[in-house]
Amino acid sequence: MNVPGYRDHPSEPWDRAAPADPAEAEEFLRRSYAENPRLGPVEPRLAIVRAQIAATGTYVHTTDELAHGAKMAWRNASRCIGRLYWKSLLVLDRRRARTADEIFSLLVHHLRTAGDGPIRPVISIFAPAHPGQPFARVRNEQLIRYAGYRGENGCPVGDPRQAGFTETVQGLGWHGKGEQFDVLPLVIETPEEGLRLYELPERAIREVPITHPEYGWFTELGLRWHAVPAISNMRLTIGGVHYPLAPFNGWYMGSEIGARNLADADRYDMLPTIAARMGLDTSRESTLWRDRALVELNRAVLHSYEQAGVRISDHHTESQRFLAHMRSEARAERPVPADWTWIVPPISGGLSPLFHRYYEEMDLRPAFYLDDEAAAAASGL
Ligand code: ARG
Repeated sequence: MNVPGYRDHPSEPWDRAAPADPAEAEEFLRRSYAENPRLGPVEPRLAIVRAQIAATGTYVHTTDELAHGAKMAWRNASRCIGRLYWKSLLVLDRRRARTADEIFSLLVHHLRTAGDGPIRPVISIFAPAHPGQPFARVRNEQLIRYAGYRGENGCPVGDPRQAGFTETVQGLGWHGKGEQFDVLPLVIETPEEGLRLYELPERAIREVPITHPEYGWFTELGLRWHAVPAISNMRLTIGGVHYPLAPFNGWYMGSEIGARNLADADRYDMLPTIAARMGLDTSRESTLWRDRALVELNRAVLHSYEQAGVRISDHHTESQRFLAHMRSEARAERPVPADWTWIVPPISGGLSPLFHRYYEEMDLRPAFYLDDEAAAAASGL
């Protein structure tokens, strides 16, 4: 789609040695100042930024630019169904932190800010990557994830998605309990200190035990999940400046846990166990035992988070909110890039109004990118 004022950015590999692109900086600044009249006129700011880029290869965002840039990156995240609340993102400017200890304590602070009370969307933005220089990052895919072990009898324990990363941290000296829900340590890498491991304190880890509104036996499955999904391996790019460490979180949509994390055959694979406890006929697919077990697991997840006072939403409500988001963006005359395969919920697809249409797929910036490198790092360093 050709939207006036929006350049389409083909996904190009990230060259960390490259200086900030002055055209991208200008496009970002013009848009951000136009969206926020209280920032004042953009022309004097453009002159400063051009001079900074010419002299140093990059420039420094003001706190307001950083905050609005992060919100725009959320607004542009084509895989996110939860974008209606993009303006409410709490942006924590952590650009001055340098040591692994400092970074760690600010990440603990992030989790507590996000997870105390009913969950609020937060991003912590650490130092940008300077052209050609090494930078700090976190190697974990999310701040809180459960270890995955290859069990002795071939039966996996924990989250198989984290099996590679778990082996890596074991290689760095970590010993997990070997249970189903062992929270992984944070692996923080800084140019001065290399890789350092940190165990998260209990106060930073809010979890919800999964119970079912009717099936008492559900408790015996011993399932739980963490309250805050905080993605920590995506690079935030704002106006040509790259922030390799900028962990962010929203709140969960129930089906992420109930229809994926606990249900996928290559994750916790709970459907056969739940179907057996429900006494379903699993001898044939056409009894739809998988679907019936899946619905009960999703009810259990929503019920448990609601009971625990942890913010969560169901996929019907979140679909309606995304429609509201598209309407409000249309009023602001902005396009809403979206990826159908991510936006449509993983259960009851056709019941969601989001199923029955197509979307524009555009790479608008500011944006979050999952670099190939970061993805590889999440499974093994
Ligand atoms: N799907 C991921 C998970 O289950 C989290 C992705 C972000 N989700 C969110 N609600 N902000 O952990």
